[in-house]
Amino acid sequence: MRYNFLTAFAALGAFFVSTTTAFPPYAPLGGLSARQLEEIVPTLDAKVPPPPPGPPSFTGAKLVDDRDHPWRAPQRGDQRGPCPGLNTLASHGYLPRNGVATPTQIIKAVQEGFNFDNSAARFAVYAALLGNGNVVTDLLSIGGKTRLTGPDPPAPAIVGGLNNHGTFEGDVSLTRGDAFFGDNHSFNETLWDQFVDFSNRFGNGFYNITVASELRFHRIQQSIAENPQFTMLGLRHISAYGEAALPVNLFVDGRKTGSEKGQLDLESARSFFKEMRYPKGFFRAAQPGGGEGSEVIFLSHPTSPGRNNATVNSFVVDDSLGSILDPCKVYTEFVNTTVLGLYPSPTGVLRRNLDIDLGFLYDAFGSGLPNCPQVFPYGRA
Ligand code: HEM
Ligand SMILES: *[C@@H]1O[C@H](CO)[C@@H](O)[C@H](O)[C@H]1NC(C)=O
Ligand SMILES: *[C@@H]1O[C@H](CO)[C@@H](O)[C@H](O)[C@H]1NC(C)=O
Ligand SMILES: *[C@@H]1O[C@H](CO)[C@@H](O)[C@H](O)[C@H]1NC(C)=O
Ligand SMILES: *[C@@H]1O[C@H](CO)[C@@H](O)[C@H](O)[C@H]1NC(C)=O
Ligand SMILES: *[C@@H]1O[C@H](CO)[C@@H](O)[C@H](O)[C@H]1NC(C)=O
Repeated sequence: MRYNFLTAFAALGAFFVSTTTAFPPYAPLGGLSARQLEEIVPTLDAKVPPPPPGPPSFTGAKLVDDRDHPWRAPQRGDQRGPCPGLNTLASHGYLPRNGVATPTQIIKAVQEGFNFDNSAARFAVYAALLGNGNVVTDLLSIGGKTRLTGPDPPAPAIVGGLNNHGTFEGDVSLTRGDAFFGDNHSFNETLWDQFVDFSNRFGNGFYNITVASELRFHRIQQSIAENPQFTMLGLRHISAYGEAALPVNLFVDGRKTGSEKGQLDLESARSFFKEMRYPKGFFRAAQPGGGEGSEVIFLSHPTSPGRNNATVNSFVVDDSLGSILDPCKVYTEFVNTTVLGLYPSPTGVLRRNLDIDLGFLYDAFGSGLPNCPQVFPYGRA
């Protein structure tokens, strides 16, 4: 899923040539060589990651499209990405309008602006920071692309922020194309038409959990049939189902009750997905929520985690990174395979911050699961 609407970022090819060009403080450090890290990390303003905020005291419905949070179109350089929720919060000033924020800012914003559940918010934000953010500066871009040309062959091409494919951003998004087709984050009008079509056919003109079940399955079938590089592994197997449920729980006005609950009208949906804007006078959900209903969506057409094997229609099951049915394995492999792969031998403040953020991730995700001990890819600190 990609949701960037703007062309992302400045090319930074000159960085290693011109030492006066600063490394962007939000660009991810994952995948950089030891030599590049040695050069870059000392130039960054290192922070000690603070503990994440807890839930707010008031968690009811309230007007969030309010006078203190006017919508403004993104300006040149502002980053927007694959997440319609975060894009909307940035365009209303719940997040910094430039689209670069700390985990603390993001957790507060999603709670305040959408009533996103505290533990789901902590899980999402630390997974995103570890996968796509800068753990030394404690900053994450909600979109953005940074291309670095390094001295070590092969020159690393680093896509930054939440557009980074394969950690959090993934294939089969509802309204964004697969990375294979070239743009993994922008709102796609063709996919939107399909969203409308499914909402008309299965939801009588509304998007609900029934529509989500059918559309989620259809998007997976589409990618298997069209994208030779289709993958849906581990964390993506959970997020693909969770993200299909989020609009039902958090994009529906919190004043709706009875038969209107859980039914998202298409005008509001388009406002979030495309315009990155609250519908006029929008009230956030009446209780904290997140991906409730994702099990129903999965069970309606269960698809195992897996990928295409280099050609279209060659789906092979691959549960090596876990699945929605084995979230502890998703946690363990995300840490021991994905994060360790991005940061094989961190030192200094990078190592310190990885250990701290991995602790926050475990608190939010692994600790609540039965028999799911914390893993320490770098040994105990
Ligand atoms: C900690 C906060 C959050 C993070 C780090 C985050 C991150 C992401 C990322 C990386 C994606 C792209 C996945 C992909 O489709 O490839 C995504 C998609 C999505 N997010 Fe968020 N998100 C957050 C909070 C929210 C909230 C609060 C909402 C709703 C109010 C939301 C709604 C969605 C939806 C509906 C999609 C799917 C878009 C589509 O499939 O076209 N997210 N998010
Ligand atoms: C994601 O989209 C951006 C912008 O179109 C593109 O430059 C980048 O290569 C894509 N990422 C991948 C891994 O395809
Ligand atoms: C949108 O998605 C469709 C269907 O996957 C694809 O054919 C089209 O090229 C995409 N459009 C853009 C502008 O990326
Ligand atoms: C979704 O909408 C359709 C059409 O109104 C309805 O039949 C179905 O029960 C709804 N599903 C849910 C989960 O609300
Ligand atoms: C993937 O394709 C290759 C080449 O066709 C084949 O040898 C291999 O067995 C396939 N792998 C799986 C897991 O199906
Ligand atoms: C995770 O990786 C560490 C370090 O490589 C290893 O000691 C540990 O056994 C691994 N844990 C699991 C559950 O795979």
